[in-house]
Amino acid sequence: MRMYDLIMKKRNGGVLGDGEIRFMVQGYTRGDIPDYQMSAMMMAIYFQGMNADETLALTMAMAESGDMLDLSDIRGVKVDKHSTGGVGDKTSLALTPMVAAAGVTVAKMSGRGLGHTGGTIDKLESFSGFSTAISEQQFKENVNRVGIAIMGQTADLAPADKKLYALRDVTATVDNMSLIASSIMSKKLAAGADAIVLDVKTGSGAFMKTEADSFALAREMVRIGNGAGRKTIAVVSDMDQPLGYAVGNALEVREAIETLKGNGPEDFVELCMTLGSYMLVAGGKAADQEAAERILREVIANGSALEKLAEFVAAQGGDRELVYHPDRLPQASIAQEIESPMDGYIQRIVCDEIGICSLLLGGGRETKESEIDLSVGLVLHRKVGDAVKKGETLATIYANDQAKLDAARERFLRAYTIDRNPVEKKPLIKGIVME
Ligand code: URA
Repeated sequence: MRMYDLIMKKRNGGVLGDGEIRFMVQGYTRGDIPDYQMSAMMMAIYFQGMNADETLALTMAMAESGDMLDLSDIRGVKVDKHSTGGVGDKTSLALTPMVAAAGVTVAKMSGRGLGHTGGTIDKLESFSGFSTAISEQQFKENVNRVGIAIMGQTADLAPADKKLYALRDVTATVDNMSLIASSIMSKKLAAGADAIVLDVKTGSGAFMKTEADSFALAREMVRIGNGAGRKTIAVVSDMDQPLGYAVGNALEVREAIETLKGNGPEDFVELCMTLGSYMLVAGGKAADQEAAERILREVIANGSALEKLAEFVAAQGGDRELVYHPDRLPQASIAQEIESPMDGYIQRIVCDEIGICSLLLGGGRETKESEIDLSVGLVLHRKVGDAVKKGETLATIYANDQAKLDAARERFLRAYTIDRNPVEKKPLIKGIVME
């Protein structure tokens, strides 16, 4: 078998067989197939798509490209959560300690920033010393002892996704249904949790821009998860504007910490409550959503969720004091406010453009080797439906370089549409997919 022939087959609209997909995934993981051939294949898949059988085969080949963790010797239901990616999506940072504080064990595999979206691992690295490059042994120990552990893909666990994720990030091949479904579900299957709650984003800041595509992606992933014997549900949620107010790694960590102190933005709290209540029900800690939400509000009110975050950060090598002193997290040297050019209401925010502003400031990667600046980003002051007066602040940009700030500022102003007519706010949760 030759990779060249497989690229040509897919480029011409052919259907790849199970053996061909395994050959390609194993060869790439071992390093026998070079990045340039895999990039061509990703682009061919991007344009030609994959059918349901190909997507399932790709998912299984990626999940089995390394070890498949067996967590059966850890008591109770282990739950995992994953988002398809958005702007300002710091959900895992607040949600996983809430759920763990409520007594449900979280075993999660996360990724770094991808395209215009941020990644949980990059955000967590705002805690100095924190590492997700932990061994399988330590992952299991932490799941058992702390009730929560998050690791990245490694040379042993979902290594195919580790390589493909980094490649897709810089080759404009992220926003394809089969590539997203296989990337996410391979990690979820390899990390060994019994139940999986997916947050499928929809809108201008998501990889799936329409509700029809987002629900199709949700159904695809739920089918793969349930088919593999993991109880899987998907919440489809709005990403037509950033989630919460903060966009950028350390800025989002601060907002997540504030949320665990009971001061979270309304939309972000609603999302954490929705996803968290499904996690608690799946984990057997609550009979229904209402009971689960009461427990989640209680772990915020009594401080145990915040303490669980500190415990989790320390268990993975990070400085737990930063949870209680977020002013010591990485800080940018320049803060500049962007003023509204007119009176009116915010009609629309082109959400992926706000993610790109954060990338332009240095918060994301241009190439696989790029270092990111954890301190930069934006804090929005106005979101869709809000009234604003000329000269009032729309957002504050945090930067370490004036030229980058100027580029981000210009892009930011083009992303906001302001008009005299009041706007109705849209619901955050679009629907739930269980089968
Ligand atoms: N999250 C992932 O883990 N993979 C993707 O492809 C997109 C979002």
